[in-house]
Amino acid sequence: MNEQVKELIERLNAEHCLSLDEYRYLIENRSDEAAKLLAEYAVKVRREIYGNSVFVRGLIEIGNICKNDCLYCGIRKSNRNCERYRLTEEQILECVDEGYSLGFRTFVMQGGEDAFFSDEVVCGIIRKIKSAHPDCAVTLSLGERPRESYAALRSAGADRYLLRHETANKAHYERLHPPEMSFDNRMRCLDDLRALGYRVGCGFMVGSPFQTARELAEDLKFIENFKPDMCGIGPFVPHHDTPFKDEPSGTLGLTCFLLSIIRLIYPPVLLPSTTALGTIAPDGRERGILAGANVVMPNLSPVSVRKKYELYDNKICTGDESAQCRSCLETRMRSIGYEIVTDIGDIRK
Ligand code: 5AD
Ligand code: FES
Repeated sequence: MNEQVKELIERLNAEHCLSLDEYRYLIENRSDEAAKLLAEYAVKVRREIYGNSVFVRGLIEIGNICKNDCLYCGIRKSNRNCERYRLTEEQILECVDEGYSLGFRTFVMQGGEDAFFSDEVVCGIIRKIKSAHPDCAVTLSLGERPRESYAALRSAGADRYLLRHETANKAHYERLHPPEMSFDNRMRCLDDLRALGYRVGCGFMVGSPFQTARELAEDLKFIENFKPDMCGIGPFVPHHDTPFKDEPSGTLGLTCFLLSIIRLIYPPVLLPSTTALGTIAPDGRERGILAGANVVMPNLSPVSVRKKYELYDNKICTGDESAQCRSCLETRMRSIGYEIVTDIGDIRK
């Protein structure tokens, strides 16, 4: 490892920030040795805050109908081959009840941008979850909505919201999205969510088309400034029915490298080791935890719809019952010396 890389890692560990050019230099000069040192420091700070606990979130994919046309995404509206579905309120509540008996205390309702899931409908579901299980956190991941909508959902009891920024570079954002979508609106959403008192998650794909170390450095600077409560990063994985079908996947090495850096930038951040990471490598999620992640998100969706929520090719866990997913992850985490904990798992800032 060159001296300058070593110095940058030491300083990141001590001061939790670097300049834009330094982040870029670190990424461009990545080596196995550098990754090892970063992971060592990342695991150390995480251990000081969270011990060897890994938080679980039950993911419920409530529907794949989407008005957007993000170029990378398998459920984009132009994909005629995608078989569309929506869960009913009853189905969603059943997933929650099943998850609750499996020990989940956080539920993430994720779905495409679908007008059917109006404020009225979603508020009704949130209230029912909260009254049945007052000891649980409700996380939403339903895309861009007006501020008033976020306010209504928050009043109904939503605690957290995940909305990946996707890239902190506006020109890059425009190459990943159709002209109807805007970087500024994405940022507006994140600011509104924060102002409304949500715990907020941002994030990006690693190895998305046109991404270079420069864009990644900007993502890291954004995270340093925004200090998200959660940060979802996973490799880009091509979907065969999208314009990016021939683009290469992001790598396990770079994703883990960035997980360690993000842990050091903001030590308390909740950092999931994502399904996409488990998709590109059989031990991807374990490797993510060993790089500094501390959250896993097993799938609680009904098995009948799992294959339809295909954001990218070869997504794992699509044939497994919720209980299988839960115990599979438990075994995987134990195998590397970590314990899944089933409390609400709030950030410890
Ligand atoms: N590869 C990896 N991640 C993807 N997402 C969407 N499409 C893909 C893909 N092809 C991610 C986006 C989105 C989240 C729900 O899934 O970052 O915010
Ligand atoms: Fe879903 Fe292993 S985590 S089957």
